Amino acid sequence: MAKRKTKFVCQECGYETPKWMGKCPGCNQWNTLVEEMTAAPANSRHVFQTSSTSATTKPEKITQIKSQKEPRMPTDMPEFNRVLGGGIVAGSLVLIGGDPGIGKSTLLLQVSAQIAKKDFPVLYISGEESSRQTKLRAERLDITSDELYVLSETNLQDVINQIENIEPRFVVIDSIQTIFKEDVTSAPGSVSQVRECTSHLMRIAKSKGIPIFIVGHVTKEGSIAGPRLLEHMVDAVLYFEGERHHTFRILRSVKNRFGSTHEMGIFEMKEKGLEEVLNPSEIFLEERSQGAAGSIVVASMEGTRPVLVEIQALISPTAYGNPRRMATGLDNSRVPLLMAVLEKRAGLLLQNQDAYVKVAGGVKLDEPAIDLAVAISIASSFRDQSSNGDDVVVGEVGLTGEIRRVARIEQRVQEAAKLGFKRVIIPKKNMDGWTPPSQIEVIGVSTVQEAMKVTLGDS
Ligand code: TYD
Ligand code: MG
Repeated sequence: MAKRKTKFVCQECGYETPKWMGKCPGCNQWNTLVEEMTAAPANSRHVFQTSSTSATTKPEKITQIKSQKEPRMPTDMPEFNRVLGGGIVAGSLVLIGGDPGIGKSTLLLQVSAQIAKKDFPVLYISGEESSRQTKLRAERLDITSDELYVLSETNLQDVINQIENIEPRFVVIDSIQTIFKEDVTSAPGSVSQVRECTSHLMRIAKSKGIPIFIVGHVTKEGSIAGPRLLEHMVDAVLYFEGERHHTFRILRSVKNRFGSTHEMGIFEMKEKGLEEVLNPSEIFLEERSQGAAGSIVVASMEGTRPVLVEIQALISPTAYGNPRRMATGLDNSRVPLLMAVLEKRAGLLLQNQDAYVKVAGGVKLDEPAIDLAVAISIASSFRDQSSNGDDVVVGEVGLTGEIRRVARIEQRVQEAAKLGFKRVIIPKKNMDGWTPPSQIEVIGVSTVQEAMKVTLGDS
């Protein structure tokens, strides 16, 4: 028998070292190195050989490679399809992460049922719940598809045997942290196990052309447990997010080899499972406090779809010490920057003010086109002057207070018009080259001061 060696593997970042250390040199975390057995070398060589000899590939001229769209299998949920870039790609390995209880199992069981309804066999592997528990969930979701197979199993080899048996068209592994491979000695959920199992599943997905979705738990810091490396191994990484106390759930992709990473799908958790939200703007604006100081609506792009969201700011004098700057749902560093621009260019004395800025509805916006709306909401709260409830604002703010051009202006304005807003304030540079809808007034501005004059009036 080949000699077995041990190594120490960091459970946070996957760093490997032959000797134990208190602090991982890779990620600087303490006490994360765990002793693990290295697999017998003969064995690993064997695995490597089989995978490399199975396909003898030669370099091809790029002009002669046949381009072919990846075959995709759409589900009945357009929101889910869009996040994936238009449906499930055959042979893809997709990782879904999210907090416990957010609805990952529910979402994937619903998707499985929809595929099974089309008479494609689906294998749902649950390492966390018994088949009975999955059945109870299925009853709650009214799932009656005959082609949906449920397996409560954690041994990777058995899982693979069943995949070969049933020949499913779609596989769900819930979750990767419960699956183990026998020849890896460390516990399920450890870096080595997660990595080995994932790479094995990757080979199965690619060689058989079966799309496999794996659920991954999220650590306290919010990344998928196990090494970052896991994210590099898979074709797509989706996060399912939302606040526990709210019913809205957002599915977003942070990596996608087959589509854009800016898309998001919005769902609502109901009594009978997840329902799609097809009109997000209406929902996000539902609770808007019209006419309050510090509130303004922005037209932001989430991938290819415009959404209207309210931005709220609260500016109040600092009681003691350094002023606080807090941002929820947007980049933290934009708030002090925009406040500095307002102070310097528009003469607002903001240095002794605390600032709290929030994107309402629990959405996260990360494009510069929301700058102007953030600036206006800060100015509005500072002056205690309400903005016009019928206004939508969009534009990037530069350091000299100039308003810069944004992408996809037409779609943003159309969405604002669709929802009945009367005016939209946009960068002047965006005014040319398109025809705005007739029912909305479009105002072009070139500086922050100008935008403040339009939205808040003179003071
Ligand atoms: P679950 O899918 O088990 O979450 P995860 O797999 O991400 O841990 O979701 C569980 C939560 O969803 C639980 O709090 C109950 C709720 N839920 C509903 O509100 N409606 C439903 O139809 C179902 C199945 C679950
Ligand atoms: Mg679950």
